[in-house]
Amino acid sequence: MSQTQRSVAIPQEPDGVRCEPMDSCGCGDDFASIFDRGTAERDRERYRTKGPDQTTAMLLDMITSDSVRGASLLDVGGGIGVITQELLKAGAGHAVLVDGSTAYLEVARNELRALNVLERVDVVEGDFVRRASAIDPMDIVTLDRVVCCYPDAESLVSLSADRARSLLGLVLPRNSRLVRFALWANNLRFWLTRSPYRTFGHSNQLIDELVGDRGLHPIAEQRTLFWRVVLYRRGTDAIPLTEI
Ligand SMILES: C[S@@+](CC[C@H](N)C(=O)[O-])C[C@H]1O[C@@H](n2cnc3c(N)ncnc32)[C@H](O)[C@@H]1O
Repeated sequence: MSQTQRSVAIPQEPDGVRCEPMDSCGCGDDFASIFDRGTAERDRERYRTKGPDQTTAMLLDMITSDSVRGASLLDVGGGIGVITQELLKAGAGHAVLVDGSTAYLEVARNELRALNVLERVDVVEGDFVRRASAIDPMDIVTLDRVVCCYPDAESLVSLSADRARSLLGLVLPRNSRLVRFALWANNLRFWLTRSPYRTFGHSNQLIDELVGDRGLHPIAEQRTLFWRVVLYRRGTDAIPLTEI
């Protein structure tokens, strides 16, 4: 079996941390204003008491319907690292957790340390679109409720799909009228409270096309009133996940 490919040319700091703060993608300060310490700690408490949120659990069930033993994971916009923690517990070998929020990554690092798995995770701080060229392909790539935070869905999704050796999992807002209204109302609230942060209801069709152009095809899908959870696989035949 081949060794899981390790990522990234960025020099490694102690504790698996690589720090390159999110800067001028147009969302650095915007992210800090919403994905702050308080929100991260609330997310951690919810995860500790109730487990993964509904749509995260849906995506995890889809991914783990096949064995993930020894697989490598790239968790883009992974926040406090719920997917990373769950897939490492399920047997994944190594993960790269990328996020633009310093506060979220601090909480993630503490949780991974407490779980005794921090040495199996590269934590990358910054805008994935800007960091992507230094990150190698992984067996599984996930973007759980990330596409709706980022204006340039085309770059975010294409660069993620390019790095998915086998599976790409997305949780993103559906394109229904109700969702469009909810996103508009959210953005009105941000505007009224002078927050620079905005949410985006990118076209699901465009995203499927971008992913399809990179050789991945949907193999499982579930919906809630607001979210679409979709898992894509590379090629028509499954590529066996890497084992250590
Ligand atoms: C709504 S939170 C979701 C966090 C986690 N995936 C979850 O579902 O619990 C969105 C996260 O994506 C991160 N994010 C959005 N766009 C990003 C980008 N281009 N690069 C890195 N992180 C990004 C934000 O910092 C934030 O932590």
